[in-house]
Amino acid sequence: MIPDKAPEEDVFHGAEEMRRGAHVPTFDKYKEMYMQSIEDPDKFWGDMAKDFFWKSKHTGRFLDYNFDVTKGEIFIKCMEGASTNVCYNVLDRNVHDRKLGDKVAFYWEGNEPGDELTVTYRELLNCVCRFANVLKSQGVAKGDRVAIYMPMVVELVVAMLACARIGAVHSVVFAGFSAESLCERIVDSQCSLLITADGFYRGDKLINLKLIADEALQKCTDKGFSVGRCIVLKHLSKEAQETSLSSPPAKRPCPDLQKEMETVRVRKTRLVPQVPWNPEVDKCWHTLMCNVSDECEPEWCVSEDPLFILYTSGSTGKPKGVLHTASGYMLYTATTFKLVFDHRADDVYWCTADIGWITGHSYITYGPLANGATSVLFEGLPTYPDVSRMWEIVDKYHVSKFYTAPTAIRLLMKYGSEPVHKYKRDSLKVLGTVGEPINPEAWQWYFTVVGDGRCPIVDTFWQTETGGHVITPLPAATPMKPGSATFPFFGVVPAILNESGEELEGTSEGYLVFKQPWPGVMRTVYGNHGRFESTYFKKFPGYYVTGDGCRRDKDGYYWITGRIDDMLNVSGHLLSTAEVESALVGHEAVAEAAVVGRPHPVKGESLYCFVTLRDGTIFNHTLEAQLKKQVREKIGAIATPDFIQEAPALPKTRSGKIMRRVLRKIASGERDLGDVSTLADSSVVEQLFRSRCCPAM
Ligand code: PRX
Repeated sequence: MIPDKAPEEDVFHGAEEMRRGAHVPTFDKYKEMYMQSIEDPDKFWGDMAKDFFWKSKHTGRFLDYNFDVTKGEIFIKCMEGASTNVCYNVLDRNVHDRKLGDKVAFYWEGNEPGDELTVTYRELLNCVCRFANVLKSQGVAKGDRVAIYMPMVVELVVAMLACARIGAVHSVVFAGFSAESLCERIVDSQCSLLITADGFYRGDKLINLKLIADEALQKCTDKGFSVGRCIVLKHLSKEAQETSLSSPPAKRPCPDLQKEMETVRVRKTRLVPQVPWNPEVDKCWHTLMCNVSDECEPEWCVSEDPLFILYTSGSTGKPKGVLHTASGYMLYTATTFKLVFDHRADDVYWCTADIGWITGHSYITYGPLANGATSVLFEGLPTYPDVSRMWEIVDKYHVSKFYTAPTAIRLLMKYGSEPVHKYKRDSLKVLGTVGEPINPEAWQWYFTVVGDGRCPIVDTFWQTETGGHVITPLPAATPMKPGSATFPFFGVVPAILNESGEELEGTSEGYLVFKQPWPGVMRTVYGNHGRFESTYFKKFPGYYVTGDGCRRDKDGYYWITGRIDDMLNVSGHLLSTAEVESALVGHEAVAEAAVVGRPHPVKGESLYCFVTLRDGTIFNHTLEAQLKKQVREKIGAIATPDFIQEAPALPKTRSGKIMRRVLRKIASGERDLGDVSTLADSSVVEQLFRSRCCPAM
């Protein structure tokens, strides 16, 4: 499966100096290690596990599993019998065993330039222990679910690790999601506590997070589920700002995070958020932290104890609670981080993702901390206060490994090379991308303009479900082809299947599946194992089905071609068409809706919605604005439709199924419709073509 030799033509090689001291220095070494990882996974992963602390060792096989629904229940178990604590491994082990207490864990860079904080491993451990005690004082115990709805602040990492320390299961909800979405997630996993913040700024825009959180809690109560407690971090509010007036000026290291986190950073923002307060439910983070000890014995968990739930869009519309468990996830994110970014002790690493998504979980929180890495944690936007912000931050902290999404690259590309060239960027060594296929033009710009042609690009393919990278280059070893995620990571066995489920060999295109588990793969859909089996394992028994299409070229390189289910990828975020459609038909004017993706130069795909209105309703700008608002309120700003077209009728087959393939063509103005013989009424198509939205792009 892995070619004997990497191709010499049409490929890019990283700088020769990358190879010196690299964990995997050559393609031959990659192949050798890959074969070991497949032929003897117990030994391969067992060696990786030696770096970690285990309270008790595993007894059975390293990985035990069933991937075949026809043979019984699907299960994956890693290191059965072992016990450990993930928080202990990413903090205490670094501070005590590896003597990294004074090493910087995070350089926090706020939305506003100059708003910053430096946190060492020792300070982080101290803060996590105290917050773990806070959680206990609020009645949280092992196995309880805790919802976290916070901006990109260090306290978000503190909250996650404090849960891990006491064996509670965190469920982080991206702070861009609506009250409705937050409520749905809280109810689904029956969270007993919510952790949030007063608000935050995204560029110039104030987000009143607590107001949204309150609305979500009210909605939970309306649904008969009551969340007893809400811990609120005063990140922006007036009292926090007043306290900060007595603290030193903005630019300072953090000698004592304990004090820093009680005083809150100096900030230049003008407005402060509204923070309604219900003393029965709301508790102030800072006040609670004053009254607890900084010692907290970790709760020793068995390997398959749940670590966290993270919701991802499901093609039926209802989000799925992807469940990851302790040992396997820790081991996998640590190993992928180390090898895919070729982590070195003196690196400064920066992943621009939000922790509310899996990229932030695996490659801001768990993977980097497990390696004792120093990371930048950025609250702001790539375009605020100007489009040089990213490169300014790269120079400021001497970032050596940089990880972002193709959508951010395409956005910055629009402004040309000048904003990039204003900064030196000579610290950069490896560049990464994630979230969607990167178009070769954006790849070239990233490689040439951002990386000055020196830095290998790791185009990492993976999913919320996979826990970590599954198809990816290794920076010193893998010759790169722009737009290809290249080859499988260790322990991962991909295959390409045709519609009948037959494995295709050599040059081919079809469904991307995996034949066996790796330690970090998801274990179930929280509370719905049947949905886990039917979503990922029913279509092709014996395989994990990714939902992505894939092509393998003559040199064995894998090229992800995009989703082949009813999911859209907008700016690297998966959205379910069914979820958006259900938000639209929730409006009284809409009888039926169909949503498809339309290619977009920056976002990858944009949301194009067809709506059939109820009799007597007129489509106008007011209704269009109402419908956009409706979707934003139901799901969140990321799902705001870009185009809404009135459809007197939708193209359907004779059996009544909407032909989305045809709608996609109409949305993007492509006349070549392919076979439309099954259409019940072909005049509908012409009508929709005539009234389609044709925006200037
Ligand atoms: O379609 C693939 C795309 O993003 C999907 C997973 O989305 P999510 O679970 O939200 O996780 C995103 C971050 C890991 C995949 O099914 N995708 C992700 N990375 C790539 C990609 N498509 C092509 N190339 C990638 N590097």
